[in-house]
Amino acid sequence: MPEAVHVASGKVREIFELDSERLLLVASDRISTFDVVLPTDIPDKGRVLTGLSGFWFARTREIVPNHLLALREDGRSTEARRLSMLPIECVVRGYLAGSGWKDYSATGEVCGHRLPEALRESDRLPEPIFTPATKAQTGHDENIDRERAAELVGGELLAEVERISLELYRAASEFAAERGILIADTKFELGLDAEGTLTLGDEALTPDSSRFWPADTYEPGRPQPSFDKQYVRDYCESLGWDKTPPGPELPPEVVEGTRARYVEAFERLTDLTFDDYLAEPEAVLS
Ligand SMILES: Nc1ncnc2c1ncn2[C@@H]1O[C@H](COP(=O)(O)OP(=O)(O)OP(=O)(O)O)[C@@H](O)[C@H]1O
Ligand SMILES: [Mg+2]
Repeated sequence: MPEAVHVASGKVREIFELDSERLLLVASDRISTFDVVLPTDIPDKGRVLTGLSGFWFARTREIVPNHLLALREDGRSTEARRLSMLPIECVVRGYLAGSGWKDYSATGEVCGHRLPEALRESDRLPEPIFTPATKAQTGHDENIDRERAAELVGGELLAEVERISLELYRAASEFAAERGILIADTKFELGLDAEGTLTLGDEALTPDSSRFWPADTYEPGRPQPSFDKQYVRDYCESLGWDKTPPGPELPPEVVEGTRARYVEAFERLTDLTFDDYLAEPEAVLS
């Protein structure tokens, strides 16, 4: 890629600079489970994430402007406006899972939201809640309350970030539920563009940035199977792996089963076939 300079590697994306205003985000096929990147790739996973993000960016422009400029022919590269990212992760939860469930079990609260008593694991919340987290440079992100988040980004901006995050979650979770997918929670990354306009960046509403649960087997009172990574998690647990690096290699049937679930999520949500996407990635934008 002679026109682009590599500037950073995330767990999943390689980031290149196209010019002073534009980045190229290239989503790899790397998969992480229990926060460890595994040595085996899931073919096309990066394309699914890129296509789904593009799909949502095109459908949420009325709620908030986003960084998307173009999708490239390879289906995994997004040309994006470079943003100055806010130092918080904008998490919205509609159901009680993961660290939300853990915090609630210990304190009855999540990020300063007092919740009704006697909720069960995976219960639907009375209302979606905004539960920001810090962006940890190393280790796990840490849930924070509104006061701490306001210190990090400013109170006025935080109120706008919360309103936008909740609106995005509401719109997307309703849309997905009609297609058999519950979005239990999701994380947005927002930033400011050159003019100082609050803008949605990164990936959005993908299985990597969200908990997607199959609606037909939803049953509160226990953890839910994840739509996409369950094969990988079950396989890793069956090995008795201690969840520290290095992670195990995945056998072909686990790779294929996982790929099929990512593709299924894409097809259910977009109403396109994945082959349509491969032939013309920008089909998700119309
Ligand atoms: N428009 C944008 N402008 C600037 N930075 C962006 C933009 N969109 C996304 N990013 C940043 O690019 C990176 C995406 O890479 P990736 O998703 O692989 O990272 P990650 O594994 O989630 O997190 P980390 O970067 O901590 O490893 C993130 O750090 C994200 O904040
Ligand atoms: Mg990321």
